[in-house]
Amino acid sequence: MRISKTEYARRRRNLMGLMEANSIAIIPSAREQVRSRDTHFPFRQDSDFHYLCGFDEPDAVLVLIPGRKHGQFVVFCRERDPELELWHGYRAGPEGVCASYGADDAFPIADIDDILPGLIEGRERVYYSMGRRAEFDRQIMAWVNAIRARERSGAVPPGEFTDLDHMVHELRLYKSAAELRLMRRAGAITARAHVRAMQACRPGLFEYQLESELLHEFTAGGARSAAYPSIVGGGANGCILHYVDNDSRLRDGDLVLVDAGCELECYASDVTRTYPVNGRFSREQRALYELVLQAQSAAFDAIRPGNHWNQPHDASVRVLTEGLARLGLLKGSVAALLKKEAYRPFYMHRVGHWLGLDVHDVGDYRVEGTWRLLEPGMVMTVEPGIYVAPDNTGVAKKWRGIGIRIEDNVVVTEQGCEIITDEVPRAADEIEALMAARS
Ligand code: GLY
Ligand code: MN
Ligand code: MN
Repeated sequence: MRISKTEYARRRRNLMGLMEANSIAIIPSAREQVRSRDTHFPFRQDSDFHYLCGFDEPDAVLVLIPGRKHGQFVVFCRERDPELELWHGYRAGPEGVCASYGADDAFPIADIDDILPGLIEGRERVYYSMGRRAEFDRQIMAWVNAIRARERSGAVPPGEFTDLDHMVHELRLYKSAAELRLMRRAGAITARAHVRAMQACRPGLFEYQLESELLHEFTAGGARSAAYPSIVGGGANGCILHYVDNDSRLRDGDLVLVDAGCELECYASDVTRTYPVNGRFSREQRALYELVLQAQSAAFDAIRPGNHWNQPHDASVRVLTEGLARLGLLKGSVAALLKKEAYRPFYMHRVGHWLGLDVHDVGDYRVEGTWRLLEPGMVMTVEPGIYVAPDNTGVAKKWRGIGIRIEDNVVVTEQGCEIITDEVPRAADEIEALMAARS
């Protein structure tokens, strides 16, 4: 299931094909982050670094030098160390990086200041991700200055520095068959987790107890972590878009909004379901729920090659505006309401975002000033919502404090789109039926 060595090699080749002649790209790994004192957060590789080689250790630097006779793919990494490995786990070491990850050359990270300036020297252009990590920016300049210091002896420093992000991110936007297989599997694990949480839900539980059901299914499915902090918001907590406290009691008569997705082999899923804590939608909850579902369906219908990025969003806005007017939460003609964006207090986010190695994945949404056209292989979320603030005195009391989002993950296909998180019920009746079958 993992991405093959051949695919990583193809990605590097594609990137090198975009680089100017006589250039070098330098990409640092992520660093370990202290959680408290001598305990670290679980290590997560930098997405660009992972994309280009799949080598998931910290303290490493990946270097691509198109056309270099002695090898185009060079890695600096930690050396093997039996004592440290006894405590902290296996390291590939320079030899392992060549053997297992296809590097042409690999050196100890401790030697980078001595070796990398020699690799940069004579190259006209350096590509790197600028301004993301001040320390790395300084290191790049230190390596270049080491070359400048030897100019009188004939050393030639690079004259151009180019941001690497855009090139790598455009490649990442189009998912390969192997990436789609992984993302479908991440979607399936996430779907199982949502089903499990729905089945466990009942009044009186704490939000974190539903969260534990999700995390159980993620881990049991082989996804060792969530792709982002899970949101479990009962009642009006569902109106807080990034609510992560998850420590309130779930109350009879309220909805609960659950936004959670696993990360599998670095690929994210991102799914939201909203359902009644007691298993039965009230009349108002159902009316708003069906409206969000209708908006999602209209957005799905607008996803196909040739349509542009904003069409699904526009479709969701139209359906929500019409519905809010029909139900009396908005007053006036639909045309006038659309014109003044009257939906915004109820629907303040976009219908979706790119999805991949990052949950809010990379890739431009606009190209040369206009919305990007959708193409097969792009993966995105579709997540309309309605959030009626508890203090919104502009609407009847019965609507206040209802927060609903329905979110799925789709792949753009030749004909339209494929929903890869379809295994978790979405229709109100199906949700009620599943919850009625709780033990
Ligand atoms: N879970 C974050 C989002 O839906 O964008
Ligand atoms: Mn989400
Ligand atoms: Mn999302």
